Amino acid sequence: MKESPKLLKNIAILISGTGSNMEAIINDTQKYDHPGNVKFVLSNRYDALGLLKAKKLGIKTFVIPVNKTYSLENFEEKLLKLLMKEKIDLVCLAGFMKVLSEKFLANFKGDILNIHPSILPSLKGLKTHKRILEKKSTTHGATVHKVIPELDTGKILGQTTIKIKKGDTPEKLANNLIKKEHYLYVKVIRNIMAGKNKIIQID
Ligand code: GAR
Repeated sequence: MKESPKLLKNIAILISGTGSNMEAIINDTQKYDHPGNVKFVLSNRYDALGLLKAKKLGIKTFVIPVNKTYSLENFEEKLLKLLMKEKIDLVCLAGFMKVLSEKFLANFKGDILNIHPSILPSLKGLKTHKRILEKKSTTHGATVHKVIPELDTGKILGQTTIKIKKGDTPEKLANNLIKKEHYLYVKVIRNIMAGKNKIIQID
């Protein structure tokens, strides 16, 4: 049995798509010894596949669209209210493809983590699987870091690596890396909740 919800730290997960990292986080928090509890999953897109997965796992979901009609500012105002209402301590970005503003980051007092598919500080931004192949590198990886206003730049909390093999394509790299992303992200979350500072390295 898990602790009473009152004693657990509250987590919110933000997604834009498939939600496999989200699923890994929810599954881990549902174990009896986890100090956290996922209170809700929120997407900026109605069609994010992860929303269905979250519902199946018994997690509350929300959508706040960002598009031509609804601005990112509107999204952030509503999100901030929700984070306060649900007393969220930790926000995990898991394939969330919007860049949160400096104002929002200053207003939310908890931690915000992100997972990025590269060995930061190398390859910030998009299309990292394609770009690592173009660099003719032999190693690829992912990083979990704290979110600050500069994109993919906050304090690194953990990294994982994979070897690049002959014949690898961006799709193959993404497939190989994603399982290690899940493993890394859940470990970093447990670490930060336990107040440990050690950077996690998974090779
Ligand atoms: C993951 O590979 C994650 O690292 C990446 O999107 C994918 C989401 O997959 N995140 C970024 O590119 C953020 N800049 P998922 O929805 O299955 O977790």
